[in-house]
Amino acid sequence: MIDARWARVTDLGTISGGGSGSGRTWTRPSRARTRTAGSIGAVVCGLDLTAPLPDDVVATVRAALLQWRVVFLRDQHVTPGQQVAFGRAFGDLTPAHPLQGGLDADHPEVLVLDSTDYRLGIGDRGDGTSYNNRWHTDVTFSAQPPMASILAAKQIPERGGDTLWADLVGAYATLSPGVRHLLDPLVAVHDATRTFDRFQDDGRQQVAAMNPVRHPVVRVHPETGERGLFVNPVFTSHIEGLSRLESERILGLLYDHITAPERVVRWRWRPGDVAMWDNRATSHYAAADYDGQRVMHRITVAGDRPVGPDPTP
Ligand code: SIN
Repeated sequence: MIDARWARVTDLGTISGGGSGSGRTWTRPSRARTRTAGSIGAVVCGLDLTAPLPDDVVATVRAALLQWRVVFLRDQHVTPGQQVAFGRAFGDLTPAHPLQGGLDADHPEVLVLDSTDYRLGIGDRGDGTSYNNRWHTDVTFSAQPPMASILAAKQIPERGGDTLWADLVGAYATLSPGVRHLLDPLVAVHDATRTFDRFQDDGRQQVAAMNPVRHPVVRVHPETGERGLFVNPVFTSHIEGLSRLESERILGLLYDHITAPERVVRWRWRPGDVAMWDNRATSHYAAADYDGQRVMHRITVAGDRPVGPDPTP
């Protein structure tokens, strides 16, 4: 008799490289790597996240995540509980956000990102309901930023509201050797106040109490050993030991390089989609180019302290 779980995952091996548009399929992630035109993003087909996943299926998703940095799963329509169960397959979950509560008492891990009431909005939509429309890696203002984020699309506007992800490993790898050498020993400061100062009055003290943290500018991925850039304009305030001008110019150079279209995948959401990204190897941007409401549920898998090429900076 066929185990119902397996009936749901018979197509697991089919992975489309390059995000939403490539259309190519392969039978194994390892083969996909040699075939894709882009450096980031894969669609994993055949999974049903409303049921528990067997360990080897979780391992396959993890392998795809490590290889492609962001994986997309269409048509999932998960409940908050199912999203949490999926996330727990990859590790402990964090609370929803260091500065914001969760969905409800039963789901303290689920962060609601609602374009109409998201109080931590950091973008620039000009109406006080701004959103995450600046490039960032999640929660790098904490000492141990989450290793992965899992986003479920609940309500998607008719047009717009895509999310873009940039490949931080690909960005590092395509810098010239002299610049990589310059960056390798550097340390950057990440500071929540840089962004969340716009927090409503009742949260300001909480933000101010969060001390800035130091992270290597170049992060060595704890699972793959790859080096990636680990700075973002939302939370990185400066690079230590450089003049203000040097820090601003070098960070500006890196941000331009990180967001080059060659290393970016853009996802057109449909309600029910789930995206999971490796927060140690990507940054992302939620395009605020829509009218109407956009509602997402995000959970984050706990991570470790970022380590640079020189482990004792
Ligand atoms: C996020 O910034 O973590 C959420 C991205 C999105 O809403 O598309």
